Formats: sequence, C-alpha cells, structure tokens
Amino acid sequence: MQQTIMPGKMFYIYPSTNPEVIEFFYILKGVIRYEHEGKEIVLKAQDAFSVNGLKEPIYFEAKTEVEYLWVITEPAFHIVSDDIHSLRDMIAEAEKRDPFTFKHSERVAQYAVKIAKKLNLSQNQLKDLYFASELHDIGKVRVPEEVLNKPGKLTNEEFDVIKKHPSDGAELVQNTGYRHLESIIIQHHERLNGSGYPCGLKEEEILLEAKIIAVSDTFDAMTEDRAYRKAFTAQYAMDELKRLAGIQYDEKIVNALEEILREEGKIE
Ligand SMILES: [Fe+2]
Ligand SMILES: [Fe+2]
Repeated sequence: MQQTIMPGKMFYIYPSTNPEVIEFFYILKGVIRYEHEGKEIVLKAQDAFSVNGLKEPIYFEAKTEVEYLWVITEPAFHIVSDDIHSLRDMIAEAEKRDPFTFKHSERVAQYAVKIAKKLNLSQNQLKDLYFASELHDIGKVRVPEEVLNKPGKLTNEEFDVIKKHPSDGAELVQNTGYRHLESIIIQHHERLNGSGYPCGLKEEEILLEAKIIAVSDTFDAMTEDRAYRKAFTAQYAMDELKRLAGIQYDEKIVNALEEILREEGKIE
C-alpha cells in the first residue's frame, strides 16, 4: 500500500495484540523522524524499517511531504481507525465553515505534543493528547455559521451557544473509539482560577492534558487572524500567556511553550 503524509503531520503505530505481526515501511520520498526507546531516528528516501513485537506506540513526524510503502503481514494494526476518519471529516467540515480556524486543530496538536514532550509525559499520554487536540473543537460543528464567523462582538446568547462546544464535542466522541478522550475535550476551556467553562473547574480538578490544550489553543487562536481582528505576534501572545500564568494557565506549561518558541526562533 502506498501512502502520502503531508509535512508536519504526526501519526502513530500501535502495538499489535498479535506478536507475530510484522509491519514494514519503505520511504519513497521525504524525511520522517521518530523516537524509539529514547533515541531519535531520522528516515530518508530508500530507508526501510520494520517493526514487530512493539511494546509502546511509536510516534512519527513527517519533516517534509513523505511517500512510503507500507506492508503488513496481517491487517491487525490500525494507524487511524475508521472512527478518527469520520471524526476528522467532521473537523474538516467545521474548519471549512470557519476560514479563520482552518488547520487550527492540527497546529494545536503539534504544540500540545511538543509541550508534553518537554514535560516528559508518557507515550500513551502523548497519544491521547494528540488525538484529543485534533478533536478538541469538534463540538463547533453544532455552532451556526453566523455565530462562528460573526465579525463583531458576540451577544450573551451567542456566547452561550459557543460555550456548548466542549460538552458537544465530548458527546460526539462518546460512541467512538475515542470516548476515553471525552474528559480532556470537555475541559479544554476550563481555567485554573475557575473562570473557564462549562463547569468552572479549578486547579487540580482540571486534567493536565486539558491544561496543555488550553495553552496551545490560546496561543494558536491569538496568533491567527480572526473575523474581528488581525493576528497578534508570537511574542505578544506569549507575553499575554505569561501574564495569565498561575491565574488562568498552568505556569509550567506556559514556560514549556516559551522554551519551544524560543528554540524555534519565534520569540526572543
Ligand atoms: Fe474550543
Ligand atoms: Fe480551539
């Protein structure tokens, strides 16, 4: 089977329940990196690699557009299940209706995973965080387009409609293989001091994964154009997050993002 992945895209392969299964990848084009047993490995065109007896999921990142051949001795692995396909279609649908959030979920996922790695989260947490980030705004499919794209200030009623998207999102994943992500999704707008929604949770009542998405989501929202304003600079968004660190956002998460942005040359 020949597959293509776009630059910056991440994906996972999971351990099989059948130890006999062998999976084989042959890179046709592009550069892909992954980490295995704490080591960073870079694969380029004509590199091949095979896995069997995986104990932990492996997380890959496409550095460029990548084409690869994928051979598997039996279809026991699922890189992405059918569920995530239909859920992703819903996100694409939601993002299409709102041109300002195009690719938002994907960028949120990228920063969330980078932050999580700085904070040494486990491979499993990383995987959940990645999918929860991709799905965090899926509840917005139920928000009418006029409200999503309104250029002016929202009325209280309109804001109430927006505020339903975390619970709607949690509900939408309930009948899928991603139901274990529902508490992360429902909590992504909760804030440390209880000023968030929908439940007004505080501090330790909020999951670490949801706190990471909150920071990554806020940063991305501020650095992109919106119907009612132009994008802020990365530096401005970071200063704002730092001002609210310990009040709304978890300080160690904000610091981790700052470190990443500095390493990427996006802030001073
Ligand atoms: Fe959201
Ligand atoms: Fe978001």
